[in-house]
Amino acid sequence: AAAKITIDPSFTVGPVRRRTFGAFVEHLGRCVYTGIFEPGHPAADQDGFRKDVLELTRELGVTTVRYPGGNFVSGYRWEDGVGPVDQRPVRLDLAWHSTEPNTVGVDEFAKWSAKAGVELMMAVNLGTRGIQEALDLLEYCNIDGGTTRSEQRRANGAANGYGVTMWCLGNEMDGPWQIGHKNALEYGRLAADTARGMRMIDPGLELVACGSSSPAMPTFGEWERVVLTETYDLVDLISAHQYFEDTGDLQEHLAAAHKMEAFIHDLVSHIDHVRSARKSSRQVNISFDEWNVWHMSREASRVPTGKDWPVAPALLEDSYTVADAVVVGDLLVTLLRNTDRVHSASLAQLVNVIAPIMTEPGGRAWKQTTFHPFALTSRHASGTVLQLAVESPLASGGVTADFTALSAVATFDREKGEAALFAVNRLARQALTLDAAVGALGTVRVLEAVTYANKDAYWQASADDSTSVLPAGNATVKADDGRLTAELPAVSWSMIRLA
Ligand code: AHR
Repeated sequence: AAAKITIDPSFTVGPVRRRTFGAFVEHLGRCVYTGIFEPGHPAADQDGFRKDVLELTRELGVTTVRYPGGNFVSGYRWEDGVGPVDQRPVRLDLAWHSTEPNTVGVDEFAKWSAKAGVELMMAVNLGTRGIQEALDLLEYCNIDGGTTRSEQRRANGAANGYGVTMWCLGNEMDGPWQIGHKNALEYGRLAADTARGMRMIDPGLELVACGSSSPAMPTFGEWERVVLTETYDLVDLISAHQYFEDTGDLQEHLAAAHKMEAFIHDLVSHIDHVRSARKSSRQVNISFDEWNVWHMSREASRVPTGKDWPVAPALLEDSYTVADAVVVGDLLVTLLRNTDRVHSASLAQLVNVIAPIMTEPGGRAWKQTTFHPFALTSRHASGTVLQLAVESPLASGGVTADFTALSAVATFDREKGEAALFAVNRLARQALTLDAAVGALGTVRVLEAVTYANKDAYWQASADDSTSVLPAGNATVKADDGRLTAELPAVSWSMIRLA
């Protein structure tokens, strides 16, 4: 099969936003405890943070990290996680049927974020709590001093405010599983009142209203219409969440990003419908703050039940295949391709829980397959996202028909004089020959060409072998006389850098 593209820097979509490369740390399973934080581990620093995980987080190129949940936040009292550690309450975490020791709270996480070099993105509890607690948390985090909450933070060791800009107004409030689940009008009003109060403290905040927790929710669309009707002038972003599962039909699995793109386009329609109905010139954009492959139905470890309320149980510890990594790379291509409306995104999650980074308690930290396309895209996508002209054969899975076999995005950094093409072959069994017209970039040479693929697309990394399948040089990539050609193997993700 063959596909053609044209890369021309005159046709642009928008800037490469660093926030597209965000991730998510929730108090869930072993993401925090024995994930980012494990005092006594040989690699722990003086604050108990695992330096091996910090290093991998930096290598992954993560930019913003959403915290502390997720479903967890809807039952969370942030005050439990501040002050002397030995006096912090131990609580039941109803979302994940676990025990929360509160050893890590907002101050520890802010410290971890600074060490990791990431922007902290906070979520407030609009499940069991409301406006006042959100305002208290904002005062605690962002006011430098002179008020009770800010002085409390100073007394807890942080002299300056954290300057948290992005705030999620609750989490998945459309989901019946959410503690304090609300209908769209109830939530929309609460989100609007909370946003109004938060903006009285700081009008410059970037606020995220909860959108649907998946496009499959029966309320998707109507939820956005009602919530945005209540909040349109008060929020900057609306959230999107979406997970994909390989149910055994590889060709269908490779349609994941096509489905994500359809979701983005639908969500944009719902947002713009409200804008138009309100005759507003303001543009609300998307925070895609949970996305990933998640093999929900194969999950080995189930959420505990009954009298079992463990601390940091192994939950949602998915193992990822090369095919999953190709899908993750494609999802990131899709987020970038929609940079005009997707202004922020968070891979869910960062460590151990459906994560690119895994740890063994007391042992090593290692990379899942999904680590590679994320890290390379974050490192090399820069400047402006270009609008490509694509001619591609179509593919069909068991459910989804006629999606393009080639998924691609290119970025162009005028200052560096470099372009990067990220290309996915979504065909399960056939290679794709790529023929790209690149003359508009001037005379180009290939700086680097790597492909991530494997004969066995189901190969998975493990603690014992995380390095035998890595992105490798693609020797078929050639640039000559305004044309770039490449062979993209079946089920593959590639990055081609040009200068
Ligand atoms: O990321 C895992 C969970 O998925 C989050 O807690 C929740 O928001 C979503 O349903």
